[in-house]
Amino acid sequence: MSVLSRLGRPIVGAPMAGGVSTPLLVAAVSDAGGLGMLAAGYQTPEGLAADLVHVRDLTDRPFGVNLFVPVPVDRAALQAQVDDFTARIAGDARALGTAPGQVSWGDTDHWEAKVALVETLAPPVVSCTFGVPDASTVDRWRKVGCEVHVTATCVPEADAAAACGADVIVLQGQEAGGHRGTHDPSAHPQPVDHLGLLETVRSRTDLPLVAAGGITTAGDVRRAVAAGAAAVQVGTALLLSTESGASATYRAALRSPQHTERVLTRAFSGRVAGAVANRWIREHADAPAAFPVVDQLTKPLRRAAAERGDVEAIHIWAGSGWRAAQERPAGEIVRELAG
Ligand SMILES: Cc1cc2nc3c(=O)[nH]c(=O)nc-3n(C[C@H](O)[C@H](O)[C@H](O)COP(=O)(O)O)c2cc1C
Repeated sequence: MSVLSRLGRPIVGAPMAGGVSTPLLVAAVSDAGGLGMLAAGYQTPEGLAADLVHVRDLTDRPFGVNLFVPVPVDRAALQAQVDDFTARIAGDARALGTAPGQVSWGDTDHWEAKVALVETLAPPVVSCTFGVPDASTVDRWRKVGCEVHVTATCVPEADAAAACGADVIVLQGQEAGGHRGTHDPSAHPQPVDHLGLLETVRSRTDLPLVAAGGITTAGDVRRAVAAGAAAVQVGTALLLSTESGASATYRAALRSPQHTERVLTRAFSGRVAGAVANRWIREHADAPAAFPVVDQLTKPLRRAAAERGDVEAIHIWAGSGWRAAQERPAGEIVRELAG
């Protein structure tokens, strides 16, 4: 029986990279009968290993780890745009008392080391976003007992996830907070919501499907399950939870009545993400499509802005239901969502 089908509650706590998915949050979601997910993105392999051990200390329940699949960036095509962007944000950086970050065009996310770490530490679930792992990697993980989840944002990506041998497909709708898991960032498929995706993909595969994007109430969960989802994956609903690692500035921005619009933007990282609109997005909407290079450039600025409490220059990742996020223990949120 799959890990997903054995959950007491059909709620996956979305992996949220950048410090939001703390081991405490992961364990709280799993202890409430859901599936907590660690986020390996941006982490060093050593940091990830320590977090994995920490979660195992905190809970005996199943949990998972999420990896960014590396996507090659075309340096020759993008270098001039990146230089131009770097020059444009120099003034913002000075105003924040910092400088644009150092850029590295290679695999800065340590994919190979993390693949091997997952194989060694064998968490019950490993999930991937931004692409599909090759079949031999999926095979290595399954041999050590991991259940493999792969994110898709459109039908061809769901087909690719099934073809690589994934056990579960995570269907991420356009309402989702944070980065879209699009496999080819230069492709522009028509964005679809999670119910639309479920409807189309359900008829193409028997694999269990997890629905993600804008799910913040028990009613949303019921509708996704009625449409064929084996579980839902929620991120935004947990952002303000007690155990979330969201910074004080991020929390204040999510609560601020002045911020009223949510958009899809690549202004912070070079990859499209769902975020609450602020000044940075308005001024840098044309950032080059160069992830993670743009992310590296803006990181010191976002960090400085967070330290100063400046909500206009941080990335306020959020799904369409951000107004419904609650400041409560994550276990209570999971129980309420499950109804
Ligand atoms: C702050 C934040 C960080 C995220 N980081 C990741 C990540 O590291 N890996 C991933 O697969 N998805 C990530 N996501 C997307 C979630 O997996 C999920 O698709 C999304 O949260 C669902 O939409 P919702 O936020 O409206 O619930 C992130 C989402 C948020 C809000």
